[in-house]
Amino acid sequence: MPTMNSLLLHCRPGFEGEVCAEFGEHAGRLNVAGYARARPNSAHAEFVCSEPGGAERLMRGLRFAGLIFPRQWARGDFVELPESERIGVLLERLADYPVCGSLWLEVLDTNEGKELSTFCRKFEVPLRKALLKAGRLEDDPRKPRLLLTFKSGREVFLGLAEANNSAAWPMGIPRLKFPRAAPSRSTLKLEEAWHQFIPREAWDLRLAPGMTAVDLGAAPGGWTWQLVNRHIKVTAVDNGPMAPSLMDSGLVEHVRSDGFVFRPRRPVDWMVCDIVEKPARTAALIETWLGEGLCREAVVNLKLPMKQRYAEVRRLLERIGDGLAARGVKASIACRQLYHDREEVTCHLRRL
Ligand SMILES: C[S@@+](CC[C@H](N)C(=O)[O-])C[C@H]1O[C@@H](n2cnc3c(N)ncnc32)[C@H](O)[C@@H]1O
Repeated sequence: MPTMNSLLLHCRPGFEGEVCAEFGEHAGRLNVAGYARARPNSAHAEFVCSEPGGAERLMRGLRFAGLIFPRQWARGDFVELPESERIGVLLERLADYPVCGSLWLEVLDTNEGKELSTFCRKFEVPLRKALLKAGRLEDDPRKPRLLLTFKSGREVFLGLAEANNSAAWPMGIPRLKFPRAAPSRSTLKLEEAWHQFIPREAWDLRLAPGMTAVDLGAAPGGWTWQLVNRHIKVTAVDNGPMAPSLMDSGLVEHVRSDGFVFRPRRPVDWMVCDIVEKPARTAALIETWLGEGLCREAVVNLKLPMKQRYAEVRRLLERIGDGLAARGVKASIACRQLYHDREEVTCHLRRL
């Protein structure tokens, strides 16, 4: 009998411990009994609940967008599959699941996962057909999403998640195209941050032509390129050289200065910062910019410490929140490890 009492949590390989720490804390706060487990570099963790309904209670008590390390989540069970007749076995197991509103086939972000993605693409067509025919799948975004995460051709996690409270992209990985004119690959980090933190329908208002921005640690200009691409005027602060093509846009002023000391003459709409620095120093910088009203919105990368990475990020976010509250500044604070992030997380802040 399926228990549907485990949560499968996808993550960047190497961050399984952070996911376990994050979920241990949330489960404790929400009074959901269970334990987190993971194998290093497996690109996933599991939270196994000990009471019926625990996994669903955890998901309902949390906003997926508010989580830091998990890229995707689903409640369900691992199912072993035979070598042939896989669809028959899946249909049998799904008889205990509700009718679903969409179907995603996923793999883990590992080398084995990459090898499995061709199998998934081929398998999806007959599976979808069979599910529709059996009445297990309808095209309805209000119904839960059926997420099948294949660990191998013989083992799959049969999971459920609400479409409006789970990742916006399969495996939580946005497929962004590298813009050829951008001077560095880092450019995708800022683009992904916008997709993650700003609803698409608000882009024209909050990333509007004629707005002003400061890019701290801007060289060679991948993040500045994204801002310029939206016709935003940028002060690019870095001692290093900016790509000449960006300077030709007429929208960029290059200031050779220390990003931790630089302050704009007038408040700007956006501050973005990609300087590799101790996270506590970067957190203090964020607090100053938001707290003193130097910018309205900010995207800032926080490099992660070597140890206690989840605890340290939580501590810094709390410190920023307390600092802003002490100044009487109301702001939304979000933080996530994006797909394009490595040993870092990305914070988004907005004055309210
Ligand atoms: C990761 S790179 C930024 C890449 C950039 N976001 C892009 O997309 O091309 C970090 C940059 O921070 C700059 N940097 C380091 N310390 C700095 C500081 N104190 N003030 C300003 N820039 C700094 C470095 O010169 C380097 O160009």
